[in-house]
Amino acid sequence: KTVKVRVPGTSANLGPGFDTLGIACSCYNDLELTLLREEGLEIEIHGEGAENIPRTSRNIVWRSIQKVLRRVGCADEFKGARIVMDNKVPLSRGLGSSATAIVGGIKAANEALGNPLKNRDLLKIATDIEGHPDNVAPAIFGGMTISTVRNGWPETFRFIPKIRFKMVVVVPDFFLPTKAAREVLPEKVDRADAIVNIGSTAMMIAAFIKGSRHFLRNAFDDALHQPYRAELIPGMYDVFKAARKEGALGAFLSGAGPCLMALASGNERSVAEAMQRAFKENNVESTYMILDIDK
Ligand code: HSE
Repeated sequence: KTVKVRVPGTSANLGPGFDTLGIACSCYNDLELTLLREEGLEIEIHGEGAENIPRTSRNIVWRSIQKVLRRVGCADEFKGARIVMDNKVPLSRGLGSSATAIVGGIKAANEALGNPLKNRDLLKIATDIEGHPDNVAPAIFGGMTISTVRNGWPETFRFIPKIRFKMVVVVPDFFLPTKAAREVLPEKVDRADAIVNIGSTAMMIAAFIKGSRHFLRNAFDDALHQPYRAELIPGMYDVFKAARKEGALGAFLSGAGPCLMALASGNERSVAEAMQRAFKENNVESTYMILDIDK
């Protein structure tokens, strides 16, 4: 039996919510899975990553499928798979492509086995593979998510913001592996910096849940990761400033970057173009996408 799943790309952090906030975007990877009783792996890839994604046992979709098979005790029954991927989520740009692959694999495997696992189990398995929950949670649940992890157990609160916006995603013409973007971060943080992020994050959630856009004014401020990552993305703060000047609700680094994202309502195109111009002034070429929240 062949199952098909569709998983959204995601943007993590939303500025201050480092490793905790996430949002699902209307940009999808489609996955078809047929579990095989005999050994052997057949992987077909269309779209993003068709040249770079491994088609061997190292493939992250397959590794995620295997986690589910082992977890439910079916690893001896199904030793191989046929996988067809049709990817729209760009690779290594900060739109959660790895989370999309992981969630695609575990969701498809779970469905192929008759859904023995609940979403809570899928969240746990996906978080264990990815290392943090902020991309996998919205990839599983859609919408906007707040996630915590305690003693290895992730928990997610999912909601739909009451402020309407589109996501303007500006994609610069270079890759930035998450690992490199995490290596520039300090192990310890200042109390004053922590306070900035606690306040912004709390304010942002309150604003989105109440629908009070004026409370977003300081809600995108972040002192924990973007200041350190700025050196990896030429002109990052100029691009944020250009977006705000053009009337965006806020702008931030999408996940670990290098994509920059602004939330805008009504003026998406002019915000996108202003962001592109600011990038160009810093000698960075870019393209852009205007996405909706995936619910
Ligand atoms: N929260 C993660 C980070 C998202 O900023 O490093 C990227 O995977």
